[in-house]
Amino acid sequence: MCEKKTFYITTPIYYPSAKLHIGNTYTTVAADAIARFKRLNGYDVMFLTGTDEHGQKIQRLAETKGVTPKAYVDEIVAGIQELWKMMNISYDKFIRTTDDYHIEVVQKIFKQLYDQGDIYKGSYEGWYCTPCESFWTDTQVVNGNCPDCGRPVEKAKEEAYFFKMSKYADRLIEYIETHPEFIQPESRKNEMLNNFLKPGLQDLCVSRTSFNWGIPVSFDEKHVVYVWIDALANYITALGYGTGNEDAYKKYWPADVHLVGKDIIRFHTIYWPIMLMALGQELPKQVFGHGWLLVDGGKMSKSKGNVVDPVVLVNHFGTDAVRYYLLHEIPFGADGLFNNEIFIKKINSDLANDLGNLVSRTTAMIEKYFDGAIPAPVAKEEMDNDLINTALNAPAKVEASINDLKIPEALDTVWNLIGRANKYIDETTPWILAKDEAKKERLGTVLYNLVESLRIISTLLSAFLPETSEKINAQLNIELTTWNSLSAFDGTRAGTKVQKGEAIFPRIDVDAKIEELNKLREEQVKANAVPQMQTIKEEITIDDFEKVDLRVVKVIECEPVKKANKLLKLKVDLGGEVRQVISGIAKYYKPEELIGKYVILVANLQPVKLRGELSQGMILAASTDDDSKLFTVTIPGDLPTGSTVR
Ligand code: ME8
Ligand code: MG
Repeated sequence: MCEKKTFYITTPIYYPSAKLHIGNTYTTVAADAIARFKRLNGYDVMFLTGTDEHGQKIQRLAETKGVTPKAYVDEIVAGIQELWKMMNISYDKFIRTTDDYHIEVVQKIFKQLYDQGDIYKGSYEGWYCTPCESFWTDTQVVNGNCPDCGRPVEKAKEEAYFFKMSKYADRLIEYIETHPEFIQPESRKNEMLNNFLKPGLQDLCVSRTSFNWGIPVSFDEKHVVYVWIDALANYITALGYGTGNEDAYKKYWPADVHLVGKDIIRFHTIYWPIMLMALGQELPKQVFGHGWLLVDGGKMSKSKGNVVDPVVLVNHFGTDAVRYYLLHEIPFGADGLFNNEIFIKKINSDLANDLGNLVSRTTAMIEKYFDGAIPAPVAKEEMDNDLINTALNAPAKVEASINDLKIPEALDTVWNLIGRANKYIDETTPWILAKDEAKKERLGTVLYNLVESLRIISTLLSAFLPETSEKINAQLNIELTTWNSLSAFDGTRAGTKVQKGEAIFPRIDVDAKIEELNKLREEQVKANAVPQMQTIKEEITIDDFEKVDLRVVKVIECEPVKKANKLLKLKVDLGGEVRQVISGIAKYYKPEELIGKYVILVANLQPVKLRGELSQGMILAASTDDDSKLFTVTIPGDLPTGSTVR
């Protein structure tokens, strides 16, 4: 029996803490392209992604929303799965760290490590960065802030379990030094060795007691397992490790590549391998750390209003345009920029022009000159060879690039072939051949060669732009072909009817679209804007405050003030006494909405005349600084009118 070679690739599992942005999407799209390519390339692929659902950050977010952590994550995880559908992510398994099997195995792992003495009980004192779920020592904290993300850390002291990382440090150093492919790119490897491993590893605090949204330590239930131990284990629990059914684990482990952002390389190349060593399991073959996706102005952040939403981009430009930009324009392993203008220009030049025109010219000519039936290649010429060789060499080149995880280079090879095919049209001038009946066979051969080139292009593109590949196949009326069919330039059946369809990438009006996107962004910034709080006034004493006499009053009458469209005239009941108050709240309340309400009156305010009407006091209201929103302060229960407010 000849078993297929396996390939196991993972993305990080995402925190369901906020909507995913284009940077998060990047990791998963890249992993998807690699997974799809490996399947095309004949591998039995396992592509894992999922969500990392425990921890203090999630618990706090749920609390602020007033829902249980599970209800909170369920909703966000559903959104993440929607997004992956939209991005055409072909994962084989989606793990949630709240899945029962995962929880059980994490508990077993923790227990085993405790029983064998790798985990011990102690107490922890240090600093904790909640957004990063990371512990830091005094020397690591930078001016009271997390050295990773720059946000403030909090003091933490508690009884805790510790993992004896130091016990395995030498073995890990040796492993890293003798396996140059383990940490990629190379620069990250030196960083891990020099900044973390060689200065000496501290034992890692692996449990928490100050919150409970986590996996309980089975033998000491007031502790929950540190979220990174929980999260990293996903790569093996997802395969059934420790569940009693380890078929998938035996088949796919060790992972061929863990794809991660550079911010979490440390966890994947230090804690994770040490966990595996302690469990007596093999280490992953490679951890690849990619760079950041930046936007104009640096990192994406909600407060800057520059978070790029992949859903908006897909709605405007389609999934494959977004995939193309991420896969081709961002140097894999380094930081890259996301910029609307570059994005749209690339769609026009590479997708609409180079690829789109090749498809539409080819199908149009076959319809025009051959009634839509692909002609047979019976009149070959020497000048065809360069195109044919370029096409036949492309698959191996793409394969080599993907094996090195050089995704942009893989696409360069495909676009080089697209360019070669376009040039072939200029060289062979089919429209001139078409004028001479004697050159009909030569014309047919030229068109066959173009279709055959497109078949190879489309097959290779199925890994990167799957929807586009399907569209091309539909127009050329070809089935998705196999890897083996790429080794000969004869896979297209003559006589097949093509169907010229709509342009696969319509050209975009750059200026108009950018204006539209900018407008959208402005709206988004407005919607997310955090109002700047006004500075607090000068301090007063309790005696100062007590000078203000605040009373509960009931509104008994209310009507507009004539010729003053901002003002309402209220009659309020103040414990038997009726007062008239003029209030500038006509924009926010209809008179009848206020009648019967219990509001608060500044009862000892000097009376004034407003528009000729006497105002005996002032009604309290809260508003935004720009007065776009205002509410009067009301009493929820029924206190006697005249009651004091203190
Ligand atoms: O770190 N550009 O989850 P996460 C590129 N739960 N990549 C970016 C990015 C950007 N601007 N912003 C974030 C976690 N990422 C853990 C993982 S794995 C056992 C546990 C990447 O939701 C980031 O580097 O914070 C990471 O790879 C991924 O998005 C998920 O980040
Ligand atoms: Mg993060």
